[in-house]
Amino acid sequence: MNHRDSADTPAPWRVAGYRIQLARAVDLPRLAAVERAAARQFPTRLIPPAQREGVVPLAVLRQAHAEGRLWVALSPAGPPVGFAVAGSCDGEAFLIELDVHPAHQCLGLGRALVARVAQWARAAGYAALALTTFASLPWNAPFYARLGFQALAPEAGGPELAARLAAEARLGLRERVAMRLPLAQPQD
Ligand SMILES: CC(C)(COP(=O)(O)OP(=O)(O)OC[C@H]1O[C@@H](n2cnc3c(N)ncnc32)[C@H](O)[C@@H]1OP(=O)(O)O)[C@@H](O)C(=O)NCCC(=O)NCCS
Repeated sequence: MNHRDSADTPAPWRVAGYRIQLARAVDLPRLAAVERAAARQFPTRLIPPAQREGVVPLAVLRQAHAEGRLWVALSPAGPPVGFAVAGSCDGEAFLIELDVHPAHQCLGLGRALVARVAQWARAAGYAALALTTFASLPWNAPFYARLGFQALAPEAGGPELAARLAAEARLGLRERVAMRLPLAQPQD
């Protein structure tokens, strides 16, 4: 499986003056603040307060950056205000993390980041893009459903997905659901 983004071009996508593009090394240390600010929107009935403060470790971001599977939304002023990290799970592409700073939400950046990840996944030959999310928050499962993701019954997922859901439950996350977006291949 080629994890490098062969379809990537130097030209970033533009959304209302923002740019969606592969992360630059300089962006990496700024992403934790974006993630923390975004996560504070999660109600503590669904996630323990301490878990809300957790972020993707810098080493994981560095690895994703090196492998071309970390994208940012850059504000017109320059700094990143959103990001998406992808990987794989049970042989399918997986959206590891997606965050947009609350001051920049509802502008289409989240949707554009997901589309960028789906483009990468399709180009890398994955048949689907999966994720786990909160079932009832309007900006989680219903948002992904509008993008074409379908909820996966627990027994329909593979062992890695089951392990992810179990790990999330152990951390105290509630009402989690797995979702999957089938990806049409270029020859389809
Ligand atoms: C999920 C997230 C990345 C979306 O980013 P965004 O830039 O706001 O995304 P978009 O502008 O493309 O779309 C947001 C959608 O959520 C909806 N939405 C956001 N907040 C909402 C709310 N409080 N009530 C109802 N709908 C809401 C918007 O109406 C929009 O829907 P639409 O595009 O179908 O009309 C952002 O909300 C976020 O960072 N949330 C906290 C972290 C998180 O939940 N990450 C995903 C975990 S799987």
